[in-house]
Amino acid sequence: MEKEEAKRHGRRLVLVVYPFQGHINPMLQIATILYSKDFSITVLHPEFNSPNHSNHPDFSFVSIPSGLSNVSASPADIVATISAINRSCEAPFQRCLEQILEAEDPHDRVAGVIYDGFMHFAQRVANHLKLPGISMCTSAAASLFAYAVSRHPDGHGYIPCQDSLSQLDQEPELEALKLKDIIESAAGNPTLLELRAILKETTKNASAIIVNTIHFLEQKALTKVPKYFGNPIFPIGPFHKLAPSSSSSLLEEDTNCISWLDKQALESVIYVSFGSMTSMDENELLEIASGLASSEQPFLWVVRPGSVRGSEWVEELLSESFWKRVEERRGCIVKWAPQKEVLAHGAVGGFWSHCGWNSTLESVCEGVPMLCRPIFGDQTLNVRYVCDVWKTGLEMEGVLERGKIEKGIRRLMIDSEGLEIRQRAKGLKEKANFCLSEDGSSYNALNELVQHILSS
Ligand code: UDX
Repeated sequence: MEKEEAKRHGRRLVLVVYPFQGHINPMLQIATILYSKDFSITVLHPEFNSPNHSNHPDFSFVSIPSGLSNVSASPADIVATISAINRSCEAPFQRCLEQILEAEDPHDRVAGVIYDGFMHFAQRVANHLKLPGISMCTSAAASLFAYAVSRHPDGHGYIPCQDSLSQLDQEPELEALKLKDIIESAAGNPTLLELRAILKETTKNASAIIVNTIHFLEQKALTKVPKYFGNPIFPIGPFHKLAPSSSSSLLEEDTNCISWLDKQALESVIYVSFGSMTSMDENELLEIASGLASSEQPFLWVVRPGSVRGSEWVEELLSESFWKRVEERRGCIVKWAPQKEVLAHGAVGGFWSHCGWNSTLESVCEGVPMLCRPIFGDQTLNVRYVCDVWKTGLEMEGVLERGKIEKGIRRLMIDSEGLEIRQRAKGLKEKANFCLSEDGSSYNALNELVQHILSS
C-alpha cells in the first residue's frame, strides 16, 4: 500500500458523476485512466444509480443527496433532471470538498475537480474554493456548439446567434452535421435555452475541457470549439479502450450471449441495442421483432426491462414463431449485454443503435457499421457524423415498419450497396487504434492533459 501511494504524484482528483449509465461509464473510465497516470481518485456521485464501489477498489467514493425523488428520468425530463440534481448537489458538494481540503494530507493534495458538464454546480464550487475545474464532455465535441453559439439578447431569454451559426456552416464537415437545425430546435423551449446558457458560462470558466472523442473523427469541431470557450480542449478518447477492464454497468450483463455469438458465422449477426434510456411502444417492439426475423440474419437484441412502455417484460408480447426462431438459436434476446465485448466479437457484422455517443464510439473502434435510429438529444447529431461525415452507417427514419427494417439490415450487412459502408467502418477501426498508440493523437492529448493538471 505504502509503495502504491509513493508511486502517486501526491495529487488527488475529485471526479463528479452525472448519475446515468451513458455518463457513469465515461466518468469511471477517465478515473481509471488518470489513476493509471498516478493520480489518486475520489469519485463523488449523487445517491441515485450509484456505481458499485467494490468494482473500483482503488478509488474513494463519496455520495451526496441527488434531489431526484420527484423527477422521472425520462428523456422528456432531461432538463428538469439536470436542474434538480444541480440544485440539490451544490451545497452538499461544497461541504464535502471543504472537508476533503481540511483533512488534506500535503502528500495527497487536491489538484482539481473533473466534473461531467451537466453537473455545472461543480465549477462554481471549484471557483469558490480556488481549485481548477475541468469540464468533461461525454458527447461529441460538436455537441458543445449547442451552448457555444447561444447569446443573451437584452435579458429576454437565450437565442442562438445567427452570425456564429452561419460561420459554422461554411465548413463542409460542420454543415453536414446540420447544427443549425439541432440548435434551433430548442427555440421554443426556454428552460433548455437557459440551461445551455448556464453550460456555456460554466464551460468558459473551466480550466480545460476533456472530450471522449478522437481527433480525426471531429477535426473541424475540435478546431472551432476552443475559439468559443477560450480554454484548452483534450480529445483523449476513446476512453473505453484506454480503460478496458473497468465495468460500471448498473444492470447485470448477461454473458450467455457471448457463447451464443461463438456459434455464429463471421460478421453475420446484427446487434440491436438502444442504450440505457430510450423506450418504445408495443407496436414498435412487434415491428422490430418481425423485421429481425424476416431479415434472415441472426440477431442479438437487448430489450431492457421497462423499455417497452406499459410492459415489464416482453415474453407474452412476441409471437410464438418469433420465440421458435430464438429457440432454434437464430436469435438471442438479453436484458443487458456486455456491449463492448459483443461489438468486438467477430460474429457481429452490424449494429442497429440509437446512436448514443458511447455506443457510436464503441462501434467505430470495432469497425462495425451502424444502422442508426436516433431518438433524442445528442443522438440527432451523432447520426449525422455516422451517416454523412464518416459514412459508416445508414439512417432508418420515420415510422418503424418491418419491411423497412428488413431492407435496412440487408443493405447494411449483405447487399453490394452497403459494401463501401462496411469497408469504411473497418478503415475507421484502424485509424482509431493508431490514435491510441505511442505518438497517436489521443496518446499525446492524454500526456498534455496530465501536464496541464500538474501545472495548474
Ligand atoms: C446517453 C446519450 O444517449 C449519449 O449520447 C450521451 O453521450 C450519454 O447519455 P445512452 O442513451 O445510455 O446515453 O447511450 P450510450 O451513450 O450509447 O451509452 C450506453 C452505454 O451502455 C454504452 O457504454 C454501452 O456499452 C452500455 N451498454 C448498453 C451495455 O453495456 N450493455 C447494453 O446492453 C447496452
